[in-house]
Amino acid sequence: MIKDRFSRIGFILAATGSAVGLGNIWKFPYITGDNGGGLFVLVYLVTILFVGISVFIAESYVGYATHKNSVDAFETLAKSNKQAWKFGGFTFVTALAILSFYVVVIGWILKYMVVSITTLPQSVQEAQNMFLGMLKEDMFSQIGYFVVAFLIVAFIVSKGVKSGIERVNKILMPALFLLLIGMLLYSMSFDSFGTALHFMFYPDLTHFKSESILIAVGHAFFTLSIGMAAILTYSSSLETNTNIVKSSVIVALLDTLVALVAGIVIFTILFNAGFESSQGAGLVFITLPALFYEFGAIGNILSLAFFTALAFAGITSAISILEPAVRYVEEKKEVSRVKATYMISFGIALIGLATLLSNLTPFSNTLTFGDKNLFDWFDFISSSILLPLGGIVTALFVGFFIDQNHLKTNMLHYMSKGVYNTWLFSIRFIVPLGVGIIMIEKLGLFS
Ligand code: TRP
Repeated sequence: MIKDRFSRIGFILAATGSAVGLGNIWKFPYITGDNGGGLFVLVYLVTILFVGISVFIAESYVGYATHKNSVDAFETLAKSNKQAWKFGGFTFVTALAILSFYVVVIGWILKYMVVSITTLPQSVQEAQNMFLGMLKEDMFSQIGYFVVAFLIVAFIVSKGVKSGIERVNKILMPALFLLLIGMLLYSMSFDSFGTALHFMFYPDLTHFKSESILIAVGHAFFTLSIGMAAILTYSSSLETNTNIVKSSVIVALLDTLVALVAGIVIFTILFNAGFESSQGAGLVFITLPALFYEFGAIGNILSLAFFTALAFAGITSAISILEPAVRYVEEKKEVSRVKATYMISFGIALIGLATLLSNLTPFSNTLTFGDKNLFDWFDFISSSILLPLGGIVTALFVGFFIDQNHLKTNMLHYMSKGVYNTWLFSIRFIVPLGVGIIMIEKLGLFS
């Protein structure tokens, strides 16, 4: 049992901090751009609604009902075969895969906070040279920013739930929201605001590729932080007497809002300059800085605001990815939290270093396997395979392998009978079948 716990509002902010991350502000806009806009957004929204929220609630339940670390939580709730449900441990692999590229990107963001106030690139060409120069050639500054990013994340986690994670989220999340609202209001003054809305919300069939479906579904898991026991671990540190259903819905709603707002702001600025929507992963690091330059001094401020918001979003998410393993080691091995944090962070940072190197020209050949380098593999495997898989297993676990009477009695405190039955149907059938079929089909497993 954990004594270091969140307050109710602290939990909502921390879970929102976990959900709102690079996924919302960096990844969502560029994959929306690459996958044709409206229809992709629609698939993503539908997945959040029918799959994402259900899994989020199921994961919260496992944590909240046991107040234990992810491995023990599954073991405790399993009706039988308790040993087999050491499943929680598998999620540490997912955490490793995500963190090892995620913190590299936070490092880039820290660098771009400095770029914002020193020298913004003066054209897209220059911006591209700057970004690719960093990505492919500049090993030392990348490693430097990566180490700083990791130290910030580890330091916060080492301070514990209440005085580390909760405290940081209570400051950074409201700050992030203010920055985003400011940017949204500003983007409304552009004519291209309407074009951006149209691009994001008009479901245009002609620009849709069928591969986009798995990307949208995978991203729904990634953006809600579900499928690797992060939400489970946060809810296990939650005060009793909390309405976990209501808080799940609030978090999902805020997360979706942030992604949509980030998309609208970015596409408004992009279309204002007459750019195409599909700019790939470099969208916020290449196109945006060059566009910010056009705004003169305001551009520097805007750019700093943007990358600061991105850094806040990334850091509050990274801590939630690190937390489950730290909690496990802390509880099981009886070492101090501080020691556990730095040990695990060091291990992950070594793998992170390999993903960082895989983008650099001198190492990229060695660290490329098939059509992707290590960095892209970790991104792909976590979003398109490990997280949906973790989500399916968690959904099936709660739907079939735990005491159903107990589940029902507990859940009926938070939802009506009708909603409960719908939710149960979703985690028992819609999540495993829907997501499973899409994964099998799109990964070409049986073809
Ligand atoms: N949700 C975060 C984002 O959108 C990333 C993240 C944080 C995450 N914790 C997670 C993803 C746990 C999967 C699982 O950037």
